[in-house]
Amino acid sequence: MKKDIERVLIDEAVIEHRLDSMAKEIEEDFPAGPIIVIILLKGALVFAADLLRRIPRELSIECLNVASYHGGLESSGTVDFLDRHFPEVKGMHVLLLDDILDTGRTLAAVAQRLKQEGAAAVHTGVLLAKDKKRATDVKADYVGFQIGDEFVVGYGLDYKGKYRNLPYVGILKLSAAT
Ligand code: XMP
Repeated sequence: MKKDIERVLIDEAVIEHRLDSMAKEIEEDFPAGPIIVIILLKGALVFAADLLRRIPRELSIECLNVASYHGGLESSGTVDFLDRHFPEVKGMHVLLLDDILDTGRTLAAVAQRLKQEGAAAVHTGVLLAKDKKRATDVKADYVGFQIGDEFVVGYGLDYKGKYRNLPYVGILKLSAAT
């Protein structure tokens, strides 16, 4: 895997340090009471696992399967909900976690659906936000790192299903993106 990485963009120690402060921000912001965390699979899995263990709060966890990239380098422009059942969120404060904010379509579509399903409030958190114009007017409440408009892998993010278990965020070599 390592041989396919052009360079490390954010190393493990820096990620861990930032997760400490993100967890603190979330812990301070959320009102007392139940929180439901919605993790967008599969990209946010690693980020969420490390972040949530830093939040000393009672919370429940649900996962959602949505597809927007279909395995390639470009967003497809549509967001598909792949699960048969949608988690029960009525009246709940939701923390929605995704790996990366790119065009913004995924986060916007899921946040809208959560509101339609009756969530009392939807807060959004991403590990990464690409510095680019979004296709839709959406912002994340908690952003780990702002990055340039480059395709990245590692720490949950993949290219064609690979590299999710790299402990850092890196840029893929062009030769590996075939
Ligand atoms: P949108 O465009 O809806 O995209 O904000 C969010 C989803 O697209 C995937 N994505 C990436 N995956 N490297 C990846 O491995 C990237 O640079 C990248 N940019 C977007 C990701 O699944 C995210 O949830």
